[in-house]
Amino acid sequence: MINTLGSSELMQLEERYGAHNYHPLPVVLAKGRGPFVWDVEGKRYFDFLSAYSAINQGHCHPKIVRALTEQAEKLTLTSRAFFNDSLGVYEEFVTSYFGYDKVLPMNTGAEAVETALKLCRKWAYLRKGVAEDQAKIIVCEQNFHGRTITVVSMSTDPEARKDFGPYTPGFITIPYNDTDALAAALREPGVSGFLVEPIQGEAGVFVPDEGYLASSFELCRRHNVLFIADEVQSGIARTGRMLACDHEKVRPDILILGKAISGGVYPVSAVLADDPIMLCIQPGQHGSTFGGNPVAARVAIAALEVIREEKLAENAERLGEIFRREMRSIPSPMIELVRGKGLLNAIVIRPNNGKEAWDVCVKMAENGLLAKPTHQHIIRFAPPLVITEEQLMEAIGIIRDSINSF
Ligand SMILES: Cc1ncc(COP(=O)(O)O)c(C=O)c1O
Repeated sequence: MINTLGSSELMQLEERYGAHNYHPLPVVLAKGRGPFVWDVEGKRYFDFLSAYSAINQGHCHPKIVRALTEQAEKLTLTSRAFFNDSLGVYEEFVTSYFGYDKVLPMNTGAEAVETALKLCRKWAYLRKGVAEDQAKIIVCEQNFHGRTITVVSMSTDPEARKDFGPYTPGFITIPYNDTDALAAALREPGVSGFLVEPIQGEAGVFVPDEGYLASSFELCRRHNVLFIADEVQSGIARTGRMLACDHEKVRPDILILGKAISGGVYPVSAVLADDPIMLCIQPGQHGSTFGGNPVAARVAIAALEVIREEKLAENAERLGEIFRREMRSIPSPMIELVRGKGLLNAIVIRPNNGKEAWDVCVKMAENGLLAKPTHQHIIRFAPPLVITEEQLMEAIGIIRDSINSF
């Protein structure tokens, strides 16, 4: 079917027939390639959201799309009731890629987080000897781990939580970036896991103090508590290393991945752990119809190969330095703070004559660059990691001109 509708008609359709659970910028996209997207009228934009860091390999990466289409023509879904000829190949590949004994494949980030929580609880009862129903998992204030009931039960964001109760019990909430609070919480009975984002993306790209992850990991180890890293947004080269935990040489006991593990081509997520943890889950105790399907397996292999072949972590590290330096040099009273790691960055906007982060994003869109506020005053900048230095400088020019126009 050829689409003959324009932007305003297409936005009206979403408004009229779709649930109102998002508030998108008024841009209707129809095509993407590398760091660029085009709207239905053919206008080109830099994509500085990258689908919340799912598109690290760039839009429609040919190698990943080829893996998708080739597999889709052969076999798409078997369920896990049978073996298939792609899953084992992927499992060997991904476990050796990240250095774990086993992987448990799922589809979305939230599902992978749920899987990690279940795995941690099973381990608590089977291995750590916690009394029935007494397992507790420590989580951080301002976290974002997804949208399911249990995941919003861990949230401290009223918007994410309100009127979705009753909430799942079994969580202890502590401030982020606070090892004293972690040390105190670890002394509570039944504590079995510490779930943490190495950088809090949705909260506004909060980068913890250097040493926080390593000290937290060490504290967990001393208390026989699993260190569970949610790298759904920070992982897969985004912050200038394969994993954000790599900056502090921390190897999580349970690693949660999603988003860019498929290059944004297909919903793929994964939980990785070693045998003493992963084998706590036995047949019939957890699963997903689509998890580990042949398309997901082939797509994820291609997507992870691209990260290595194109040295995207190195690119993110180098261009991230340039990005922060250039942002800090913009002489605008609206820029309160620039922070981030690799190509996961944010600017805290100081409102100016009633103009806020949203207005800056609307202006940038007019000028050909897409980004989105997270919370009211923070704009996240996370372009595809395939962006070149020349393209980055062009994008920086758009951001500078947009901010300076206020
Ligand atoms: C750190 C983190 N965990 C989990 C999720 C949830 O992923 P999904 O939207 O695929 O369920 C997100 C999504 O933004 C995330 O940033």
